[in-house]
Formats: sequence, C-alpha cells, structure tokens
Amino acid sequence: MKHTDIKEIFDAPKFGEEVTVCGWVRTSRDSKNVAFIELNDGTSLKHLQIVLDKANGIEFPDEAFKLGASLKVVGKVVEGRDSVPEINAAEVTVLGVCPPDYPLQKKRHTLEFLRTMPHLRTRTNTFNAVLRVRSVLAASIHEYFQSHNYVYLNTPLITGSDCEGAGEMFQVTTIGYSDKYKNAEEYYADDFFGKRAGLSVSGQLEGEMGALAMGKIYTFGPSFRAENSNTPKHLAEFWHVEPEVAFAELPDVIEIAEDMLKFVIGAVLDKCPKEMEFFDKHFEEGLIDRLKDLISHDFATCTYTEAIKLLKESGESFVYPVEWGVDLQTEHERYISEKVFKRAVFVTDYPKEIKSFYMKQNPDGKTVAAVDLLVPGVGEIIGGSEREADYDKLVAAMNERKMNLDLYSDYLDLRKYGSVPHGGFGLGFERLIMYVTGVQNIRDVILFPRTVGSIR
Ligand code: 4AD
Repeated sequence: MKHTDIKEIFDAPKFGEEVTVCGWVRTSRDSKNVAFIELNDGTSLKHLQIVLDKANGIEFPDEAFKLGASLKVVGKVVEGRDSVPEINAAEVTVLGVCPPDYPLQKKRHTLEFLRTMPHLRTRTNTFNAVLRVRSVLAASIHEYFQSHNYVYLNTPLITGSDCEGAGEMFQVTTIGYSDKYKNAEEYYADDFFGKRAGLSVSGQLEGEMGALAMGKIYTFGPSFRAENSNTPKHLAEFWHVEPEVAFAELPDVIEIAEDMLKFVIGAVLDKCPKEMEFFDKHFEEGLIDRLKDLISHDFATCTYTEAIKLLKESGESFVYPVEWGVDLQTEHERYISEKVFKRAVFVTDYPKEIKSFYMKQNPDGKTVAAVDLLVPGVGEIIGGSEREADYDKLVAAMNERKMNLDLYSDYLDLRKYGSVPHGGFGLGFERLIMYVTGVQNIRDVILFPRTVGSIR
C-alpha cells in the first residue's frame, strides 16, 4: 500500500500536498463539528494529528475512533499549532477494527504489566524507543567493526564444547533419556549428532579460529545460558558481540572495547535524539549528560586486587562478603563503578580460579589476564581477556579443571600451528541497551525475553 511514513511528514512537511498515511489510533476526540485522531505508524515517537472536519460533509466510520484500530488516511498536510504538521482528512478507511478489550488503554502501563503481552507492548512509546535504539546500536556495532577491517563471522549455535566451562549449556537432543540406555555415553551415541550437543554459550572458541586466520573478526549473534539466575540482568538467550583479534595483548583488548563503546554510544546520541530525550525524561534524569560525559573521558582501570582492597576499605556492609579470591557480585561491581570511580571502569587480572580455562596465565601464578568492564547502574557489561597462547600452559589449565581434551582438539591445534598472542571480549548486547537507555530490567530491552521458568 503506497503511503508516507509519519516520520517523513514531521521531518520534511510538504504543506498543501495530499498524502496517504497509515497507522494505529493512539487517541481520539470527537465533537459536533470536528474530530481528532492521533495516529502512530511506529516510525516516529510523536503521533500525527488527523483532523476530521465534519462540515466537509464526509462520512467517517465510528470504528475509526477506537483505540488501537488501524487506519489508512488520505488528506492534505496542513500547518497546525506551532507549525506542527497535521492532516486534514478527506478519506478514512478502517483497515482493522479494534474491540474495547484492547489491553493498551490510554493510561501509562507499568513495565511489569506490559511484560505479560510482549506481542502488543511493541506498540507503546517505551518499546518503540527501546527497539529503535537497539536497532541503531546494532547497526553502529557493525559499522565500527566493518570500518576497522574486522570480518563478521557467524559461529555455530549448536556446539559440542562448552566455551565457558561453567556447565550452563542447554542440551540439544531429539530423544529423551530412557532406561533403554545403560549409561549416558550410550544415550548420547544414539542421539542426533552421535555425541552430546548443546546451545553455544559463546562464539569465542570458533571466533579465535577465525582471528588466527583473518586477523580480526567479530561475531554478533545469540548466546544461550541455562543459568538459574532470576535477576534483572540475566537472560537465558541474549545477544552477544564478540570481537577476537590476533596479535592483541590485554591493553589492546581494553583499548578496542573503550573505542568501540564510545563510537556506538556517540552514534545513538546522534541518530536517536528523540528517543534519548524520551529516556532522559521517563527513565533516568540526566541520562544524556551521563553518556556525553562517558564518551568524552577516559574509562578508569584498576586490578581485581586493588578493587578488593577498595571494597574492604569501603566500610559498606555488602550482602556477599569480600575476600581476595571471591567473584565480584553486582553489588560490588556497582559500588566500584558508581561510588569509587563514578564512571566506567575496567577491572583486570582476576584470580585464575574464578575465570575460564582459556585466559592467559600471569607470571604471578595466581591471576589471569582477564578484564571486565563495569558501568554505573548495570555492573558488568563486558568480559574479555588475552588468551593463553602457549600449548603446554593451556593443556595444564584444562587438566586442572578435569576437562575432556578430546572435545577441544581443534582449539588446541591453534596453539600448535603458528600460535600468536591474541585476545578479545564479549559484550552483552542487552546490558549495553540497558546502560544506554536507563531501562533497569533486561526483560524490557528484548522482544521476547527468555528467563528461567518463563517462555512464550
Ligand atoms: O563474561 P562472559 O561470560 O564472557 C564470555 O562469554 C567470553 N567468551 C567472551 C569473550 O571473551 N569473547 O560474557 C560476556 C558478556 C558479559 O559481560 C555480559 O554482558 C553478557 O556477556 N552476559 C549476559 N547477558 C545477559 N544474560 C546473561 N545470562 C549473560 N551472561 C553473560
């Protein structure tokens, strides 16, 4: 159906011209001589006012005034109050009626209520703004890497090896376990792939294979984690951006992460001013200034050991006690970024016991060349490292964790044939969106959230 986007009408109004617009009714007002409909087609946060002048003798169907109904309107673009364009309607066609049980009534609904209807909440301003920012962020991520000579690599989603080794893989199977099998081995042998398979928790291991051939790669796809974490920042299916770079050591990894984040956040401020104003007004006052401040200053850096010292000296009573060797919890991460550094902070060199097998072992024998980026309001949004490039050290770390080396023979080959220092990181895309929009629950920045105990 040929029609003009409502955004186009606001951005470049052609007063006096006849146009066709389509959309859904957001509000309507009727009186004796004139009626008004606010129409939204999703291309603009702002609704377009349709003026129905009854003196023209044109018939407008009653159904056109119902909240949620979809319309096609033909009319002239005229100058309304404050020169805002509106449409003087000549013809209104109801494309789809909307009965009164339409759940999105005029009042402001809570995010919790909207979560019960993921298929309709997309029609609200909040989700329109979230999904547009998400889309612009995704495009900017591609733009950043493409313009820096990275290859976009699609790593497999079904995998036979657990990258993080944390046992959080969803199993992929076509048959249920039954007592016809003597043991798990026999069961897996009978399954689709002839061995145990799962949904990938990270594309990193295959990403490394790409980087050690093409120099610089990035992945951008879903990762799956069967974590039993019912928190505002965990999803069972999240989108993961994972650059991997040959000849990169830990400081290079940190530099890439900071540069990329500044680029994509700058792009959103530039390309989504209306959406960002909306978030600043309704979700986090001062958001735009905070982001402008972030992109114009260096991020802070501290080691894990320093972070533990700062936490111990803080005098705060944390729910999870702090001791060298413990993993940082969200409360610790937020304290470090919000109270101590008051900005984004890279924490490096974590104890090897709490990090993955593939991280480069530091000369102290206790820590690894890992890095997490902690940001105010969310906590960790990036996790990365320099990788262990030495075959013997890697094998030793895997043996310490009692890993089955046969499952990782391809990965180990990379250390046999022309191994080089390399590294990369993983950015949780939804956590970035939370940070950029000020939306506090990860369930509200993705179309259909998958969390423990909940799917539709
Ligand atoms: O720190 P993680 O587990 O690191 C990795 O997966 C590495 N293989 C990445 C790499 O070096 N290529 O995860 C990376 C990021 C986290 O910082 C977080 O932002 C996000 O992925 N993340 C999640 N986001 C939403 N829900 C979950 N359950 C997440 N788990 C991790």
